[in-house]
Amino acid sequence: MNVKKEQWGSRLGLILAMAGNSVGLGNFLRFPVQAVQNGGGTFIIPYLICFLLMGLPLLWIEWSMGRFGGRLGHHSTPFILDSMGKKSLWRYFGVFGIFTNLAVAAYYCYIESWTLSYAFHSIKGTFQGLSQTKIANYFDSYVGMETSFLGIPNEAILFFIICIFINTYILSKGLSGIERVAKIGMPLLILFGIFLALKGLTLGTSAASEEFPLANAWDGLNFLWTPDYTSLYKPKVWLAAAGQIFFTLSVGMGTIHCYAAYIDSKDDVALNATSAGFTNEFVEIVLGSLIVIPIAAGYFGLDWIKENMSFGTAFQTMPFLFNQWGAFFSSIAGVFWFGLLFFAGITSSLAMGTPWIGFMRDEFGWNISKGAYSFGFLTFCLGLPCILFYQYGFFDQYDYWAGTVSLVIFALAETILFAWVFGIDNGWKEINLGADIKIPLFFKWVIKFVTPALLLAVFLGALVTPEGNNWVGAISGFIEGQGWALDNSSLIHQITNTQLREELLSVTDSAQMDFLRKQIYYSNMSRLVLLSLFLFISILVFLAHKKRKKITSI
Ligand code: PHE
Repeated sequence: MNVKKEQWGSRLGLILAMAGNSVGLGNFLRFPVQAVQNGGGTFIIPYLICFLLMGLPLLWIEWSMGRFGGRLGHHSTPFILDSMGKKSLWRYFGVFGIFTNLAVAAYYCYIESWTLSYAFHSIKGTFQGLSQTKIANYFDSYVGMETSFLGIPNEAILFFIICIFINTYILSKGLSGIERVAKIGMPLLILFGIFLALKGLTLGTSAASEEFPLANAWDGLNFLWTPDYTSLYKPKVWLAAAGQIFFTLSVGMGTIHCYAAYIDSKDDVALNATSAGFTNEFVEIVLGSLIVIPIAAGYFGLDWIKENMSFGTAFQTMPFLFNQWGAFFSSIAGVFWFGLLFFAGITSSLAMGTPWIGFMRDEFGWNISKGAYSFGFLTFCLGLPCILFYQYGFFDQYDYWAGTVSLVIFALAETILFAWVFGIDNGWKEINLGADIKIPLFFKWVIKFVTPALLLAVFLGALVTPEGNNWVGAISGFIEGQGWALDNSSLIHQITNTQLREELLSVTDSAQMDFLRKQIYYSNMSRLVLLSLFLFISILVFLAHKKRKKITSI
């Protein structure tokens, strides 16, 4: 196949693109919610430990696997993994590295399209003068598809299409397009973030009102940054922290392998991976925690946050808070906030497109444009049911199975492959080849034992979460022969829709029953879609393998 070799233009471009890959909606929307829901200061210690013992090692592993595969002409995980282990099983684990990206891109681009629409409406002044309730209702009608844009109904779908088109167009320009967007988007994002963070930092008690006399932005920060060591004994907090580390660093997805496959075969991976990882952590820990939490605490107080903080806060509450800054500044703050989210989102969703494009190019000779447009098409088809059946949880199922569970399974598999099959000595050599920094030898041991053990613990913890998350009680009960009662949040009960079924048995109202039945139906449907997608990619990998065998035997 006569395929031109693609490479990153410069080290700065590569680091910004990699940082852009990691820095995403997860830093600004997911991190604050996870932190608040897991007790603020209680969350931070497991989070930082997971970063050091799982996140960083996985970054090094994935960067060096990517570079290793790239040297042999592989740019996506099925054949990168295949080149490191002899059994065909690894190839099929590699399917995850394309599958998760397509499935996550479907709902991720949808959220990204909200930020585009909200930035537009901030300029247009749609939110000006609206009450908190009206702004919250606006969001509900947006995702309920009751809004229209310049007379065209179903604004949600329209912006989704625009967003996919922008992504696809940039992807069709190859790595240089991604690099250019990262070079513009990342600095702007940090600039917007600093502006909003300064607002959060200087708000203090100045915004307290009659309704919320105790409002104080500092309470929000203290809540987050007063460490609580008791969390070390709470597996639930560990699971949440590990999940956040995965999502925010984009590890366990296959995008890092793909980006790293395009670097020079002797380029430094140790320093580059570390820089990109720490950039992400700076944006997450500093900027991610200085915006939504202190600003909301400054107006509503800490108790409101503890009760109401959710993923929707960014859309349902922030525009109202910006309104308090006067007409002019509210528009600017709105554009900055949603613009920041858009840049964070697009530099990540572009990354999600690259494994598919790389795979089709390597294996079937597709050019970049064809790869990019087919990615757009697939994302649209997979995303459409997320939009149409949003209220029945279609979206949440994608997030749970593709955006959470799959990441852990894939990360566990690749760590075992890297440290135990490929061998830690070979692996360590790969990580340090051409490196400008020396990673402490301690991490060789971490990669071999601690990272896989932690990953296994996270997986088992999620698989069989005991009722009420009470591990101590469950274990002692189990030893006494009382069996093991699963929690409804456990993976096993999620598969069987136990919670929804229990609710169905307890309600009597027919409308509610109908709604629950639909939720069960759409949950199953969304898994069917995901399973079909996985099978589809597996078949492509099978065909690609057959094709390769034929070529080598000629
Ligand atoms: N890390 C991104 C975020 O924080 C999400 C992402 C996951 C991006 C996987 C690419 C691949 O939002």
